[in-house]
Amino acid sequence: MPVISVAIQKGGSGKTTTCLNLAAALQRSGKKVLLVDADPQANLSQSLGIIDEPVHNLYSELKKEMSGEGSDVRQAIHKTDSGLSVLPASLELAGAELELVSVYGREQVFNWLLQPVEKEYDLIFIDCPHAIGMLTVNALTASDYVLLPLQGEFLPLKGVYSFMHHFDTIKKKLNKKLDLLGIVLTRFDDRKTMNHQVREKLQQDYGNKVFNTVIRTNIQLAKAQECGKDIFNFDKHANGAQDYQQLANELLEKL
Ligand SMILES: Nc1ncnc2c1ncn2[C@@H]1O[C@H](COP(=O)(O)OP(=O)(O)OP(=O)(O)O)[C@@H](O)[C@H]1O
Ligand SMILES: [Mg+2]
Repeated sequence: MPVISVAIQKGGSGKTTTCLNLAAALQRSGKKVLLVDADPQANLSQSLGIIDEPVHNLYSELKKEMSGEGSDVRQAIHKTDSGLSVLPASLELAGAELELVSVYGREQVFNWLLQPVEKEYDLIFIDCPHAIGMLTVNALTASDYVLLPLQGEFLPLKGVYSFMHHFDTIKKKLNKKLDLLGIVLTRFDDRKTMNHQVREKLQQDYGNKVFNTVIRTNIQLAKAQECGKDIFNFDKHANGAQDYQQLANELLEKL
């Protein structure tokens, strides 16, 4: 049932890769997972093999909800070959950033959309775009938790502090139940001193909110996405599969 936004306002930090493979790992652990692609780039939808934009998608349902027509999110949920459920994105979703601004209850629209199906899933992950716009604010307002993936370098680290400022404001003004689930380091290279330094700095600042599991750099993760597959269906022996399964186990313990 918890809704988890995977967010941070830094492009290429591993949000989509984490959503996809964490969901696949949790599904292997027997959980029923829904993925929501809230990024107009539609990378998550494409990584799940959804290449042609489906007629019913997150934008089509948002549009209905914004016009007061009432959405039916179930008809927009796709089942992938590997059995994952996904509410796909479309390029038109970029327009929602502006359209949402003039709607009453503009930060709550995702909430209205997802509430009818929330109980049907053990976990829902929302893949956010790399900007703190209306889509990300909607995702955070509809969420119980936020998960931050991060590359272990100093510039992305600054992104965490800036993100936490937005997190505090949203928690205070829009969604009191919102909590930080954790920060996970991605594209981690054990030989890189900087990766270790960033990890230590995060541990000093955020303590046990930093996941013990790190996601190592693994080219198979990128190749799997290119083929429209999760890592378990692409190469279940890859380091990426091992790391995301370990992250899934740690996440279940935290919850
Ligand atoms: N651990 C990893 N090892 C190797 N490549 C990775 C790893 N994690 C992610 N990548 C690759 O890095 C690229 C960026 O990752 P991803 O798309 O998940 O980032 P993102 O945060 O969703 O980006 P955006 O903000 O643009 O949506 C992708 O090509 C992905 O396949
Ligand atoms: Mg992405």
